[in-house]
Amino acid sequence: MKAKTSLNLILCSVTLLVGSVTASDELSINGAIEQRRIHLKAISDEMKLLGGMAKTRVPFEQSRANEAAASVQERAAALAMPNLWPAGSDASSTDHDGNRAKPAIWDDLDSYLVGFTKLSESAALLAASGDSGLEGLQSALQGPMGQSCKACHTDYRAKKR
Ligand code: HEC
Repeated sequence: MKAKTSLNLILCSVTLLVGSVTASDELSINGAIEQRRIHLKAISDEMKLLGGMAKTRVPFEQSRANEAAASVQERAAALAMPNLWPAGSDASSTDHDGNRAKPAIWDDLDSYLVGFTKLSESAALLAASGDSGLEGLQSALQGPMGQSCKACHTDYRAKKR
């Protein structure tokens, strides 16, 4: 039993060594894709809550609105980091199910990432607006915070496949 385990271990290490470059690249690419989708999905949930409040479908609660805005701020800041967008993680280069990142992102990654920095900054303004109330929320969503999603998706998010 013991001998078999260590033999397995040795075999595993050999495989790991041989495959190390490609395996870890793939791991980091798929990891980055997963990670950014978690952030985007969460941002989308927060925005649904905020949008619901703005349209008075959901009762307005200042503290919940501020928390949701703070979460968007944090997650958008994380998305603005290039490590979540490694080269080769576009939808055409991976067979990752659900990956919709257009290759155009990597034509100018820095300008692309500015979109997330701006989203984060506008969410920060809302999060720090204290008790700006329902009107504060409504006007924030009409501004860059609400418009950034569509603006970026039009250029950089591919259709569902
Ligand atoms: C700077 C560009 C950019 C901005 C700003 C942006 N997105 Fe996206 N979004 C993308 C890209 C690119 C993808 C596809 C990512 C992928 O598949 O790897 C995406 C994917 C998504 C997804 C799908 C996640 C999944 O489950 O695969 C959701 C939901 C989403 N965005 C919501 C939003 C919302 C809501 C906003 C605005 C508050 C927003 N996004 C702002 C670029 C952006």
